Amino acid sequence: MRNQVASKPLARHEFIPFHVPQIDEDEIRSVVETLKSGWLTTGMKVKRFEEDFASYLGCRHAVAVNSCTAALHLALDAVGIQEGDEVIVPTMTFTASAEVVLYLKAKPVLVDCLPDTFNIDPDRLQRAITPRTKAIIPVHFGGQPCDMGRILEIARRHNLYVIEDAAHALPAKYHGKTVGTIGDITCFSFYATKTITTGEGGMATTQNPEWAARMRMMSLHGISHDAWKRYAKEGSWYYEVLRPGFKYNLTDIGAAIGIEQLKKCDTFGASRNRIATAYDKGFSALPEIQTPVCGPDLEHAWHLYVIQLCPDRLKITRDQFIEALKEQGIGTSVHFIPLHLHPYYRDKFGYAPDDFPRATEAYHRIISLPIYPKMTDPNIDHVIDAVTQVLQEHRR
Ligand SMILES: Cc1ncc(COP(=O)(O)O)c(C=O)c1O
Repeated sequence: MRNQVASKPLARHEFIPFHVPQIDEDEIRSVVETLKSGWLTTGMKVKRFEEDFASYLGCRHAVAVNSCTAALHLALDAVGIQEGDEVIVPTMTFTASAEVVLYLKAKPVLVDCLPDTFNIDPDRLQRAITPRTKAIIPVHFGGQPCDMGRILEIARRHNLYVIEDAAHALPAKYHGKTVGTIGDITCFSFYATKTITTGEGGMATTQNPEWAARMRMMSLHGISHDAWKRYAKEGSWYYEVLRPGFKYNLTDIGAAIGIEQLKKCDTFGASRNRIATAYDKGFSALPEIQTPVCGPDLEHAWHLYVIQLCPDRLKITRDQFIEALKEQGIGTSVHFIPLHLHPYYRDKFGYAPDDFPRATEAYHRIISLPIYPKMTDPNIDHVIDAVTQVLQEHRR
């Protein structure tokens, strides 16, 4: 149902998009410098970005690639996932987290979420393990770390690899540990809407030098790892193809943006945190919605701020609520349409909506509000006022 819901417009206000990246003169200067340097593809800027990223997180190896999807694919390949293996993936995620399992002809086994944080439910995860299970891909939903203590304990007991999908979780901490230093391999996204961006891009981090070397080699056609240097003065024209790899390398243009973005990662994180706090406070007296629940001893990256409508208190649906906010000049989104509700996963694996009742129920109630450093105080106030007004107009 996408019928328009008339709402009295609040005072005139510019449209607040769901997301706007924060690109300053530093990024522009860095890109121009790279364009003028004569070296556009993977080179010294990528190397520097990897070093900066590893030192920012405190991990041993960081491999830059052109998306988080690529990083996830390379990570599964590095730990040896093969045809017939099963990999556990939450249903409450983006298709990238599961499609990479299919790239390797393995089977993604979906698991329901916790009802409050939407992170994977460790009890249900445990019940999904079979003798074919080889790995788990916990997704830190919205930037809130999963229960990594339980997940790692289950993984170690069943001899499973843990490949974290941290597309949303930069910077984030679980019990004092930085996300990116916890599981076997962690994958980050620098897609345009993420907490830092390179336009498109990703990074895989690990403590294991063999996995890092394998990912580096496979990210550039399976050629020896210094392949990118073959056109440089110190490089050599000679190379050997060791495996059938992929074309996943990040460009120096992307890295030029990433180096500058990373310098501001803490400031960006603090801005997001401030907006989340303002929303929590602004929405605290509204019984028609639930605000995000944040677990103890965690640092949340606040990539997403997801509210849940309480349908029994409202006369409008989630879709109508989205339309009403659009009329008030606010862009929103929905994270996520759970994987089991998509035609491909539903038909291929025979999933029904009730197989994952929490994710199915949440899907009809969730809305992601704008949250990004470029939002001004009047923008934040406008979102709070608009949500409040729409709820007041449509409460039962
Ligand atoms: C949870 C999750 N994992 C993976 C990805 C894929 O990231 P990328 O676009 O960098 O491949 C996304 C993208 O939005 C995501 O939300």
